[in-house]
Amino acid sequence: MTTIGFIGSGNIGGTLARLAVAAGYDVVLSNSRGPQTLQELVEELGPKARAATSAEAAAAGDLVVVSIPLRAYREVPAEPLAGKAVIDTNNYYTQRDGVFAELDDESTTSSELLQEHLPASKVVKAFNNIYFQHLRALPRPAGAADRSAMAIAGDDAGAKSEVTAFLDRIGYDAVDAGALADGWRFQPGTPAYGLIYSGEGENFWESPGVPCDVATLRTTLAEAKR
Ligand SMILES: NC(=O)c1ccc[n+]([C@@H]2O[C@H](COP(=O)([O-])OP(=O)(O)OC[C@H]3O[C@@H](n4cnc5c(N)ncnc54)[C@H](OP(=O)(O)O)[C@@H]3O)[C@@H](O)[C@H]2O)c1
Repeated sequence: MTTIGFIGSGNIGGTLARLAVAAGYDVVLSNSRGPQTLQELVEELGPKARAATSAEAAAAGDLVVVSIPLRAYREVPAEPLAGKAVIDTNNYYTQRDGVFAELDDESTTSSELLQEHLPASKVVKAFNNIYFQHLRALPRPAGAADRSAMAIAGDDAGAKSEVTAFLDRIGYDAVDAGALADGWRFQPGTPAYGLIYSGEGENFWESPGVPCDVATLRTTLAEAKR
């Protein structure tokens, strides 16, 4: 696996693209406004990066990251993502995304909505619960004492293995939080959301990022209540 496609190249997509290039991957970036608006980021990332349309990024990626406002999830191109593992970083915020009654009544989760929209793809929820500055600051080599872990949830074991390998290569351990329907365990409002990587008592936005190991993440995921 050599190429990571990005649908959405903002705070989280752009950060993951930086980590992916640093780890030796090629990246294909896209956004809503068109490839010409991504030239600055492409230049920063160098020859392993290029910008394209979302459909092209989806087609080019061996693994594809969807990192957009949830309200736009139906615009993600389904056909070029068929058969692929797709990382979903998205969260649901009513003030930004509008009201999704099926999320408010907890009859489904945001990642399951994306999976419904991409029936031939294998969606894995990841990276939704870490502030992008902490995501950028916390990668460590395998085996480092202060390496952080990231939660993943998904229904396809092979796709979860692909995402685990990607995480390992960019500098994170993985903790399997279960099926896609279990992804609520690290959605907004849960103990595993955001604060586990900022440190208790730290100013969240000013915190340089605090490592969260596998055991701590497992315990925190188990504490989640609906
Ligand atoms: N910020 C964080 O620290 C953080 C952490 C974890 C998870 N998240 C979640 O991850 C997602 C992305 O967050 P973010 O902070 O990276 O947002 P952001 O900085 O606003 O970036 C969003 C990206 O999505 C693109 N986009 C919007 N609509 C699109 C469409 N229809 N097709 C293709 N691309 C589209 C935007 O392109 P244009 O600029 O051209 O519109 C932009 O590149 C959100 O769901 C957010 O809740 C964020």
